[in-house]
Formats: sequence, structure tokens, C-alpha cells
Amino acid sequence: MSAQTQPKMDKRELLNNKRQEALLGGGEDRIKSQHAKGKLTARERIHFLMDEGTFNEIGAFVTHRSKDFGMENQQFLGDGVVTGFGKINGRLTYVFSQDFTVFGGSLSETHAEKICKVMDLALQNGAPIIGLNDSGGARIQEGVVSLGGYADIFYRNTIASGVIPQLSAIMGPCAGGAVYSPAITDFIGMVENTSYMFVTGPNVVKTVTNEEVSSEQLGGASVHSAKSGVAHFSFANEVECLNGYKKLLSYMPQNCEEKAPTLAYTKSNETRDVLKNIIPDNANQPYDMREVIEGIVDEESFFEVHKNFAENIVVGFARLAGKSIGVVANNPAFLAGVLDVHSSTKAARFVRFCDAFNIPLLVLEDVPGFLPGTDQEWNAIITNGAKLLYAFSEATVPRITVITRKAYGGAYDVMNSKHIGADMNYAWPNAEIAVMGAKGAAEIIFKKEITTAANPETAWKEKEAEYAEIFANPYRAAERGFIDEVIYPEETRSKLITAFSMLENKVKSLPRKKHGNIPL
Ligand code: HXC
Repeated sequence: MSAQTQPKMDKRELLNNKRQEALLGGGEDRIKSQHAKGKLTARERIHFLMDEGTFNEIGAFVTHRSKDFGMENQQFLGDGVVTGFGKINGRLTYVFSQDFTVFGGSLSETHAEKICKVMDLALQNGAPIIGLNDSGGARIQEGVVSLGGYADIFYRNTIASGVIPQLSAIMGPCAGGAVYSPAITDFIGMVENTSYMFVTGPNVVKTVTNEEVSSEQLGGASVHSAKSGVAHFSFANEVECLNGYKKLLSYMPQNCEEKAPTLAYTKSNETRDVLKNIIPDNANQPYDMREVIEGIVDEESFFEVHKNFAENIVVGFARLAGKSIGVVANNPAFLAGVLDVHSSTKAARFVRFCDAFNIPLLVLEDVPGFLPGTDQEWNAIITNGAKLLYAFSEATVPRITVITRKAYGGAYDVMNSKHIGADMNYAWPNAEIAVMGAKGAAEIIFKKEITTAANPETAWKEKEAEYAEIFANPYRAAERGFIDEVIYPEETRSKLITAFSMLENKVKSLPRKKHGNIPL
């Protein structure tokens, strides 16, 4: 080796050493402790998430600038977050992954700057961003600069909303104001038993309300995926979460200017006999609308969102002849499929995501109306029901409805009716489109005849049958053109493939405005 090349080798060695040091995060002991908790490290998570060999790290040597509390002597390369870009299923994706082994993944000024850098790149280059959250919150030693860092992230989350898909995976603690970045993103997935989210933790809860509650009870995956609806997904473990997110991304375009990728599909016999026998003969008997969805969409393509929350409505992504669609479906298996506060907000948010990202909407309707009662009224079913009405009305993507059974009252209007801009509306032969069910209707409009009859019970039954005869069918609506076609259930898939294909180049724009004022 010549004397001239010697220093060059030292520089290479320096780089190599730094790279090795960065890979170790907070050190081997803390990595062991992370594994002992059943958690992967920040880098292992990225390894599982991204296509092999595609990840490029940005800012691996960044260190914090804090000088208080002896922090200048505690430096870890990367400062508690691994950021960069790579490919997922061959498509560019940005990622940040918090490293709990470095100051508990807490957010310092520089840690926030690293996250903002990839968020800016994702927005400017029109590609999704995934945040893998595992953090003790604001870096306590840094004070307000850490809070400022959070706000810088929240601001970017908001500006990027509706432009690029933003996905959050919660893989450890996520507490205090830190929860608001995931909350602004499009989807939140949590890992069971190792992640939690809350604005104030169990200690503060105990001090303020005297309530004793564990972290899991207060904000674990099961709570947020079933009770609060904060989380869209609850995954059994981290690998399942990362695989789930890879699949989720496959239904979405890279940004709001593009369409979602299409999978190869060869048209064959699209008749689905399985759909003939799902709806029970008795109109008051429940059935699981998921069976109808599975019967219509491409095999194994249904990816349910918010599965355990507000189960009276089912939402999720699917494919029809290889093309991505969003499905919104009342589910008579739960609460007879009524619309209530939670189901309305759940569906409204999903409709808005699909509309923002050019994903056509399929609505399967079997709804007896809105849920009555003080609980619903006092929890603002008026405002919350209006969210769904507004979301559908505003959506400009291709929109198709199939009424499988009941379409009663205001819920008929709300569930993507022709009147609020749906493109094609179909009904199955047993559909009932009316102001309300025949029994209730007869009781109101034939009250006098029923009460004065020799046998009120028989009179009521007769009037109920009379009302049902006139309205418990799809033909009144079809006569008006509110229903475009009455179809046999087994024809549904074929009709939908053709109709969505017909609507593929739909162009519809809203009047110029700054933004609407959805009833939040
Ligand atoms: C600096 C932190 C930290 C933090 C944890 N650490 N949280 N360092 N700032 N916020 C460090 C610990 O000192 C420890 O360092 C390492 O991370 C691991 O922490 P442990 O406590 O040993 O881990 P564990 O027992 O698993 O408990 C995790 C934890 C707990 C529940 C997250 O650390 C905790 O309660 N942290 C504080 C949470 C908090 O109050 N954050 C501020 C929230 S307010 P060593 O060197 O031992 O490895 C907030 C405001 C945001 O975030 C506002 C935005 C608008």
C-alpha cells in the first residue's frame, strides 16, 4: 500500500466504524431488553417491511444538540429514529422507525427534524409514508424544542393528508400529545399486548379521577380497535402488522393524482350462485353481509378495515376484476345493520379516504334506519349521521350501490342514494325501499282503522300486508329511476364489473371553494 492511499483507508475505516455504531442504536443490552419484551428493533421492523435490499437510510449519523443534564456525553448515532426510503412490493415508500433503545425512542429536536425530512420528501415525491411508532414521547431533557418538533410533524401530517397515504403502526408506547401524529394519518394499526396509546397515562388518570386502570385497559390494541375506534387494525404481533401494512398499501395509489395499481385479471363466468341463498326469507332475520361481499369481489381480496369497531357497518378494500374498490356495507348481523354514531363516522372517514385517493366505492345496503334513543341523540347522531351524508355527497369517485334488502327512511338517502350523486344504483328483487318497515308504517297511518276494528290485531296485520304490498319492493323506486336496474343476486358481480368499467373515466368536479365544512 502506498503512503498516499494510507489515509484514505483510515477514512474508509472511520466510515465503517460509524456505520457499525449506528446499527447498534442504544447498544446490545438495550436491544436484548427490546427482544425480551417481544418487540423487534427499529431496523428489524424496516427489514420485514421493505423489499429486500431496497432500504436507503437517511441521517444515520445525526446526533442531538442537547447540553443539559449531561446529555452532551450521551450520544447515539441516529438519535433514536431510523429514517429513509425503499420499496414495498416494488413501489417507492418512505419510512421512519423509532428506536426505543435510544432514550426510549423519545422525540428530540433532531429526531423530529429527521422525521420531517422524510415527510417532506414523501410529499414532494408523491409516495406513501409509514411511521413505526415506539417512543416514550417528548425527550424530557429537551423541553420545548421537543414539543416544537412534535408540532412540526403534526403540521406536515395535516398538509400531506389527502395528497399521499400516511400509515401509522404503533409498536410500543405512544402517549401524550405524541398520539396526535398517528391520529391525523389515514390508518392506525396496533400490536396486541405490546403497544398502547393514550393522552394521559394511568398515573395521571389515578391522580385526577381516582380511577385505577392499567395501560392495556386504558389504551391497548383491543380497546382502540373495538371501543374507541382510534385504531383501524389490531395485529397479533409485529410481523403480522408489517405484512398487513404491505397488503394494505397494495390497494392504494402512490398519491392523489394516480390510480391504484390493477392486478392482471382474465374475465370468465362471473355468475355467482352463492349469492342466491344468503338473504333469509324472513326479512327480520340477520345474515352476515361479509358473505355477500366475499361472494361479489375477487377471491380473497377483501381487506377489512375497523373490523371490530361499529360492526353494524363493514368497510374495507377489495378488488373487482383486479381493480381496487372501497366497500361500505350495512351488516344486518349486528344491531340489524342500523346506522348509529360510530358506524356513521367509521364509514364517513373511509369514504373520504377512498375519494381522496381515487378508489371507486361500492355500497351494499341493508339498513332499517338510524338507531333511536337518548344515547344516540345525546351523542349527536344528527351531527355524526350528517358526516356520512356529507362524505358520500362530496365524493366524486365512481359510486355504485346495491340494495340487498332494506333501505328505510333517511338511511336510504344517506347510503349512497342516486339523489346524493351515486352513479349506478341496483336492487335485488327482495329489496324494500320505504319510509319505514310495513309494521310501523301501518300502525301510524292506519291508527284509527286499527283501534276501531273489531279485531285490532287482525286489522293491523291486514294493513301491514297492504303497505308491504305497495312499498316492500324495489319497483316504486325503479319506476322513478332511483334504481337503475333490478338484478338477480347471482348477476351482481358481473353487473358491477361492467358498471365500474363504464365509469372508469368519470370526471366530476366540485364548485371552486377553499374547503367545505363537514359537520365535525
Ligand atoms: C427521555 C426517556 C423518555 C423520555 C423513556 N426514556 N422515556 N428519555 N425522554 N420521554 C428513557 C429512559 O430513561 C430509559 O433510559 C429508556 O428510555 C427506557 O425507558 P424505561 O423507563 O426503562 O422503559 P420502560 O420500563 O419500558 O417504560 C417505558 C415508558 C417510560 C413507559 C415509556 O419510560 C415512561 O413512562 N417514560 C416517560 C413517558 C413520558 O411521560 N413522556 C413524556 C410524555 S408528554 P435508559 O438510559 O435507562 O435506557 C409528551 C408530550 C408530547 O410526550 C406533546 C406533543 C404535543
